[in-house]
Amino acid sequence: MMATASAPAKVILFGEHFVVHGNPAILAAIDKRIMATAGTIEAEKIAIRSDIGAAGEYSGRVFKALRGGRRAKALIDPIHYAVKRALGSRDLDGGIEIDLCSEIPYGIGLGSSAASCVATVAAVGSLLGRHDRQWICKRAVESERMIHKNSSGADCYVSTFGGLMQYGVKEGYRKIESGKSLSIVIGNTGIRHDTGELVVGVAKFRARKRKLFADLLAYADEICSDAASALESGELERLGLLMSENQRLLQQIGVSSKKVDDLVKACVAAGALGAKITGAGGGGSVIALAASEKESAGIAESIRKAGCDPIQTQIDFKGLIV
Ligand code: MEV
Repeated sequence: MMATASAPAKVILFGEHFVVHGNPAILAAIDKRIMATAGTIEAEKIAIRSDIGAAGEYSGRVFKALRGGRRAKALIDPIHYAVKRALGSRDLDGGIEIDLCSEIPYGIGLGSSAASCVATVAAVGSLLGRHDRQWICKRAVESERMIHKNSSGADCYVSTFGGLMQYGVKEGYRKIESGKSLSIVIGNTGIRHDTGELVVGVAKFRARKRKLFADLLAYADEICSDAASALESGELERLGLLMSENQRLLQQIGVSSKKVDDLVKACVAAGALGAKITGAGGGGSVIALAASEKESAGIAESIRKAGCDPIQTQIDFKGLIV
């Protein structure tokens, strides 16, 4: 038996990091995907291969790296966990083989870990006849927590359900209908980050500066609700200003960097309505909002001139496909 599932990458338009502390965030799935193929095999093992250069197999709890050296286990463990969570208490006659194939650059804030967990749970779930997206998303979030244990779950939700959404840990998600189509350009700094470390860094900042963090949280909440209404009414200029305002909060909590700040400035100088980090920061990626598709070429050029890689992108409305 064999099943294939693909799940999209994401950008966070508003509220990253603050969402871990109970605030809402606004996210969009984008048109870059990761595909997971799951197949049953005779041997009693779980074998995992990923085209980012890691492969390994588990016989019971014993792991053997086949490619990627010491790095392999860290990359493959969450996928193994996703397979186990999808199988639950089912006993297979034999084992499972997983193949991951990705268009999403990893470690730069575009949600490749979440998408790989969503696609893996969905592919294995499909072998068992489970197609319920909530069931898949819940197990993907648990698997992503193997990568960073305080994950808000935002990335898995948008990757599973697609489109543009507001998400909160307690509230869950609500789809947002954008009044105008959004032209977003991503700038990849090429600096990979560790989301878990950055999230821990923000928690330490919060512990040191309780009052300031509470004020920033309240302001981030205000920005997010203004942004939801600007999105719905299609007020792109207001949306851009709110993005730049959100970036100032991310600078204050220490997840920006000189390279990111320079890239944000270059995008705005090239006519972006606003620009900010997307995802965990610490390098990673920046998103810039263009007034229309026509302006996005100039912004992409400014990203290139700043020594980064532009990625022009569309919102993905499909989410998980099995
Ligand atoms: C990472 O894409 C987004 C963060 O807010 C972490 C999370 O929500 O789990 C930084």
